[in-house]
Amino acid sequence: MDKITSKQLRDKWLNFYKGKGHVDIGAVSLIGDGETGVMFNVAGMQPLMPYLLGEKEHEKGKRLCNVQGCIRTVDIENVGDESHFTFFEMMGNWSLGDYFKEEKVAWTIELLTKEFGFEKDKICSTVFAGKNGAPKDEETEKILIKNGIKKENIFHLKENWWALEGIENSPCGPDNEWFYPKTDEKCCDSCDVNCDCGRYVEIGNDVYMQYKQLAGNKLEELSQKNVDTGFGFERNLAFLNGYSDAYKTDLFRDAIKTIEISANVKYGQDENVTRAIRIICDHTRTSVMLIGDVKGITPSNVGAGYILRRLMRRAIRYIKKLNCDCGLFKEVAKAFINKYGDVYPNLIAKKDFILDEIDKEYNKFEKTLEQGNKEFDKLINNLKTFAPDVKIIAGNKAFRLFDTFGFPIELTQEMASEVGYLVDIEGFNKAFKEHQEKSKISAGSFKGGLSDSSEQNAKLHTATHLLLAALNKILNKEIHQCGSNITPERLRFDFNFDRKLTENEIKEIENEVNKNINLAIPVSCEKMQIEQARAAGATGIFNDKYGEIVSVYTIGDVSKEICGGPHAENTKDLGKFKIVKEESSSSGVRRIKAILET
Ligand code: ALA
Repeated sequence: MDKITSKQLRDKWLNFYKGKGHVDIGAVSLIGDGETGVMFNVAGMQPLMPYLLGEKEHEKGKRLCNVQGCIRTVDIENVGDESHFTFFEMMGNWSLGDYFKEEKVAWTIELLTKEFGFEKDKICSTVFAGKNGAPKDEETEKILIKNGIKKENIFHLKENWWALEGIENSPCGPDNEWFYPKTDEKCCDSCDVNCDCGRYVEIGNDVYMQYKQLAGNKLEELSQKNVDTGFGFERNLAFLNGYSDAYKTDLFRDAIKTIEISANVKYGQDENVTRAIRIICDHTRTSVMLIGDVKGITPSNVGAGYILRRLMRRAIRYIKKLNCDCGLFKEVAKAFINKYGDVYPNLIAKKDFILDEIDKEYNKFEKTLEQGNKEFDKLINNLKTFAPDVKIIAGNKAFRLFDTFGFPIELTQEMASEVGYLVDIEGFNKAFKEHQEKSKISAGSFKGGLSDSSEQNAKLHTATHLLLAALNKILNKEIHQCGSNITPERLRFDFNFDRKLTENEIKEIENEVNKNINLAIPVSCEKMQIEQARAAGATGIFNDKYGEIVSVYTIGDVSKEICGGPHAENTKDLGKFKIVKEESSSSGVRRIKAILET
């Protein structure tokens, strides 16, 4: 019997902060916003950056909370242990220039003692020791003591600083981390928070975001002082239930049961089986979340789609290790869709699509997996025979396994390590890059009638996508591009329609395009294989002019089109859209000429 279920913890968090005047803003997409260039959402604060920086006012106010899904794949090879995940949720709350340390310290202590049932005397807290021109955080220490945290349980550390790695102009600041011991048994006399025996669990952290991170490690003070709180959901759920293994929580129970029954194994029976079950669970959960996301992606060989493919193929390999097949993959996916469906209703809405993508990826990989395995065995045998001292697989060989047989690099690495070999990753990356360059050239060679790549052209190009979306909405869904031409002054767009447009229709189309311009929607680009683009519902002319790898430009929910680009970064840059001519182009084809007024 659980002491607390995932639903109860979710509610507890949100209700606690709602009780302190916060508004639950719900979770946003896991896919990066195209503005920061970050592929996935890695922290609850990421979608809130403009508000933390004081650039925009949030429509829900200055006190916000949610439970936000995050994707972090840097630790992918650690997945299989008790606590690493590629998808996890973060319980968060924020003050956007509203309350600061006094309130936050008091509330976190109230949450930990009253809601989580921790003993105040045992709570440990680490605060910023000062670094890079930012001062030691003495104020937080004072407030901690005032609220009853023992002085000997407070530690100043230089690493208590939180920032989005490598993202210039993002908010950052000193952080106050919270720890609680699993047991009272010390491993040695000096055992405290800094000891690596694992006695202390990190419960969460409060970041006092009051700086902007500039180029060259420089900081600029922000006009407002913010609080950014993040408490790991799975970790806390496990801890509050007394499990050191987060896979024992109710989040994974149905998925694990499904695997146990299908594969006739028991979770915990031995290390290999347990690890396989965890990897299948983690990677399937993340795949479900990514495919079923509001801005859902599908597996491909580039960008976010490639990360998804790697996860899916690694899951498939472990499913096969347990002598199971696609049926199990889909059953596990269904278990997660059911488990998370009420929190992420999109998963229910896209259930068939998710299962279909799993089917497709499984079949695609299965076709090449056996051949690839043979190729891999040949490679190892050759090394053993002809170069017995060499214990490393060359980068170009690993790339061949990737390129021809669809083996993601960590799959090759994992297989290599199972037989005592390493892989030359640098060599692989070099081969990968060279290949990407070639693909880019081929994708870029189709310019869709673009005469040059000035800024105005980019804007008109984006306007063309908005125009097609408006024609689909106002006239009909069957309308597609029959021709397009852009000069620095105007766009020209030919489309299938068999009569003259009325004045009213023209107005409505203009209004629709201008509405989307005014909504300031970011334009994002993802490179993917052409069939993946098609599966993702992208419009465009599907022929080999584009090359194998295509760029898909997405404008929010409005448009998803294959295109050679270039494009504006945000629809707000376009100015005012105006149709200057509507005429016949040829039989059954109309032509619109339009301009962007500044
Ligand atoms: N942004 C902080 C984190 O991700 C709260 O841990």
